[in-house]
Amino acid sequence: MSAFRRGEGWKTIGAGHKPRKWSPENFPCSCHVNDKLIGKEQELVALLAQRTRHILSSNLYRDFKLFWQRTLRCRTDQVFDVVVYGIGRFGEFRNAQYQLVLVLLLMGKLEPEHKLIDVQNVYFFDPLLSEQESRVLDSFGMKRIEENEEGKRRVNRLTLFYMPHCGRALYNNVIWANWDSLENICILGNSFEGYLDRIRPTKRAHSDRDVETGICIAEAVQAGIVNEFQFVNDFGVIGAFNDLALHRFKNFANQTARPAEYIADGTCEAIIPKIKNLVI
Ligand SMILES: C[S@@+](CC[C@H](N)C(=O)[O-])C[C@H]1O[C@@H](n2cnc3c(N)ncnc32)[C@H](O)[C@@H]1O
Repeated sequence: MSAFRRGEGWKTIGAGHKPRKWSPENFPCSCHVNDKLIGKEQELVALLAQRTRHILSSNLYRDFKLFWQRTLRCRTDQVFDVVVYGIGRFGEFRNAQYQLVLVLLLMGKLEPEHKLIDVQNVYFFDPLLSEQESRVLDSFGMKRIEENEEGKRRVNRLTLFYMPHCGRALYNNVIWANWDSLENICILGNSFEGYLDRIRPTKRAHSDRDVETGICIAEAVQAGIVNEFQFVNDFGVIGAFNDLALHRFKNFANQTARPAEYIADGTCEAIIPKIKNLVI
């Protein structure tokens, strides 16, 4: 199902493009001026403002908006929490910058008139983020998750897990943790259908670990409780939004027990060993 149509009339900002030095005059974007940020952090915010203009002048955000409202039938007055896992080193990498801009726009943190959802709390964690990058996210009102939860955050209200291009085990753990109330979660991440395709025995030999780290994804998809809406990726920066889909869940209504064979002591240790700051 197409959310993104071919972009017209915009220019791709090349990887070597240098952000303008931060100053109030150089930074007319209404989005974000924060006195607490210094030097490089301000430059990073200015770079995000450029990325914002690029996204807003393409079809990407308009289509994403239509997609969100029509396909997912999310009401604009619905209140969400948002958990941003695995955004990546956006101080360094362009794809992560665009991904960050998309979620900030969605929440009205950049250009309030483009806000799409009412957000109560926005949390973030990526073990690789630098202190500088975390401070930039702080300045947008996002809240740090201080520990590596390995994706096992249980939520009790509608929550968007924004996880572009994260590891499969991380999606799996989000589903695992919310097994009894999956209707509360919505995951933006890699296509689960694509994942299942890849581990089907007819496609190619797969390792036990491939299956284990995706067991909850597979069970949920096979039970028919996942609605997956795939994006056609034709944004100019191919790597930013490829293979992404929004997933909404229905409740299992107690039909299917949480995969037990991978649960040790009531936790998920058998899937992902509990090592502090494990990167998956
Ligand atoms: C493949 S990278 C994707 C980065 C970025 N979203 C992109 O598309 O370029 C996966 C990211 O997940 C992060 N990650 C790994 N383990 C994590 C965990 N337990 N919780 C949150 N993020 C994690 C990694 O540090 C990394 O930045």
